[in-house]
Amino acid sequence: MDLELDGKRVLVTGASKGIGLAIVRAFRAEGAEVVAVSRKTTAELEATGATFVSADLADPAAPRQMVETVLEMEPRLDVLVNNVGGGDTSGEVLSDPFGGGADAWAGVFALNLGAAVETTRAALPALTRSRGAVVNISSQNARDPRNAPLSYSAAKAALNAFSRGLAEQVAASGVRVNVVTPSGTRTPMLTAEDGFGADLAARRGIDQDALLAMVPQQAGMVTGTLIDPAEIARAVLLLASPTMASAVGSNWVVDGGALKTP
Ligand SMILES: NC(=O)c1ccc[n+]([C@@H]2O[C@H](COP(=O)([O-])OP(=O)(O)OC[C@H]3O[C@@H](n4cnc5c(N)ncnc54)[C@H](OP(=O)(O)O)[C@@H]3O)[C@@H](O)[C@H]2O)c1
Repeated sequence: MDLELDGKRVLVTGASKGIGLAIVRAFRAEGAEVVAVSRKTTAELEATGATFVSADLADPAAPRQMVETVLEMEPRLDVLVNNVGGGDTSGEVLSDPFGGGADAWAGVFALNLGAAVETTRAALPALTRSRGAVVNISSQNARDPRNAPLSYSAAKAALNAFSRGLAEQVAASGVRVNVVTPSGTRTPMLTAEDGFGADLAARRGIDQDALLAMVPQQAGMVTGTLIDPAEIARAVLLLASPTMASAVGSNWVVDGGALKTP
C-alpha cells in the first residue's frame, strides 16, 4: 500500500524514545524526511537518520521558537505529530486525589495541551501551504480517567476537544486534524527505571515488572498485553497519509479493547 508519504517533511515531538521514536521510524520507512524534537537525543533516534532539534516543549515560548528553527532549515512542512506528553509523577501528584496542586496542573497542561496548541499554531501557515495533516496523541485516560492523575486525564480530554474543534476550523484550508488514542503501551514511560511506571510501582510497594503485568488488566485491555508502539505509529501514518482525505476530526482508538463505549 502506497501511503504517498515518500519525500514528505514531517515534524514529530517527543521523538527520542517510546511512541515518538516508533513514529519517526515508521515515517522514515515510508521515505519521509523527519525532524524529531525532544530535550535530548538518543542513539536510537540518531540511527533513524531524522534531523534532531532540541526543545523543552513544556516552556510556553518553546513551541514557536522550535517551529521557526525547523522552517528556517527548510520552509516546508507536510505533517505535524504532536506526540509529546506525560504525567507529573511526583509523590505529591500520585497521592493527591486532585492530581496535584495548581502548579502541577499547570505543568501537565503545558506539556499535554499547551505544547500541541502552540506547535500547531506556529506550524499552521506551512501546513496550510502544503494542505497537510496534524495527528495528536491522546490517551485512554481522556475518556476513562480511573487509572491516572486527574491532571493528566483532564489535559488529554482537553486535547481531544481542541483537536476536534480545530479539525472543523481548518478543514476548509485543506489541513486535516485527527487523534490517535492509545492505552497502555510498552514505552520508557512505563518501563524505565525513572519513569511513571517506576514511580507508580514504588508508590504501591510492588515490583515494576509486577506493575507492568497488571497494567493491561487494570486498564481493561482484553488483549492482556501492553501495546507495541509500532502499532500506534501505523495508525498515525494512515491518518497523516494524503490517501486518507476523508479522515477529518476522527479519534482512532488503539487500546486492546480498553474503552468499553461503542
Ligand atoms: N505509554 C503509554 O502507555 C501511553 C498511553 C497513552 C498515551 N500515551 C501518550 O503517548 C505519548 C508518548 O508517550 P510515551 O509513552 O512514548 O512517553 P515516553 O516514553 O516517556 O517518551 C516521551 C518522549 O517525549 C520527550 N519529552 C518529554 N518531556 C519533554 C519536554 N518537556 N519537551 C520535549 N520533549 C519531551 C522525551 O524525551 P526527553 O526526555 O529527552 O525530552 C521522549 O522522547 C504521550 O503523549 C503520552 O501521554 C502513552
